[in-house]
Amino acid sequence: MNPIRHFLQFKDLTADEFVYLFERTKQIKSYFKNYQLYHPLVDRTLAMIFEKQSTRTRLSFEAGMHQLGGSAIYLNTRDTQLGRGEPVEDAAKVISRMVDMVMIRTYEQEIIERFATHSRVPVINGLTNEYHPCQIMADIFTYIERHGSIQGKTVAWVGDSNNMCNTWLQAAVVLDFNVHVSTPPGYEVEPERAGLYDTTHYEQFDDPMDACLGADLVTTDVWTSMGFEAENDERLRDFQDWQVDAEMMAHAGPEALFMHCLPAHRGEEVTAEVIDGPHSVVWDEAENRLHTQKALMEYLLIGKLA
Ligand code: CP
Ligand code: NVA
Repeated sequence: MNPIRHFLQFKDLTADEFVYLFERTKQIKSYFKNYQLYHPLVDRTLAMIFEKQSTRTRLSFEAGMHQLGGSAIYLNTRDTQLGRGEPVEDAAKVISRMVDMVMIRTYEQEIIERFATHSRVPVINGLTNEYHPCQIMADIFTYIERHGSIQGKTVAWVGDSNNMCNTWLQAAVVLDFNVHVSTPPGYEVEPERAGLYDTTHYEQFDDPMDACLGADLVTTDVWTSMGFEAENDERLRDFQDWQVDAEMMAHAGPEALFMHCLPAHRGEEVTAEVIDGPHSVVWDEAENRLHTQKALMEYLLIGKLA
């Protein structure tokens, strides 16, 4: 039997596997757009465990599983025994005897790693404090749809060195592109936390304008991520100059795309003019969560199709 594959961080899959997944995504997206039934996962069940809020992640996994012929069960930790202190290891052993795959959104990466160690079935990271690999997979597919391969291109990251930033940095190593990072002082990338085994694919800039210069893609995220709400007032102060605006986009060049994983705060990390403007592909990014995750679930459950 093949060993179980998990998707806990971006680097859990190889460049070749991503190339395959992006091709499958194109195919699966076209089935969806043409109302063509495609049910490779009949009778398969996905458990979705949420310890933080979500709109896109829940909807895309749940709808995606239904569209592939399977079913999805939503579990909120507040309503389960996990919320009353049942050990993650025990929960993993039980849940993974009843379903075919598990998606988890939680706090520390360590929690999902422990769950995966004790799971009999594939586990997918639906966001942790450290990473958001499903979102970056959708973002890169969105880039490829518009401009082709991302290899050798430059992504400018403006803002917090959070789960999205860390995952962009990992993806840059796996898929061989560059990330220009600009964070306020005190919020710099922590390579170990980012899971980086190679620092040749990113460069830090004090000034976000410099990070954006000539970039193919400019991206940002909320100043305060889920779980860090206690720091909100301080962050509002510290991040004032890290707002993506029209001037920054102009530095990036006429073809540059703007991305944001959403939800967004217009007037904080991005101006309305940019997120609702011609460079922005945020709605495609959100939709592509559905298609890329369907390709991922198909791959983790039934492997490569000949
Ligand atoms: N981008 C993203 O993961 O959105 P949700 O928090 O709504 O799932
Ligand atoms: N960095 C954000 C992403 C939300 C989808 C957070 O973790 O809250």
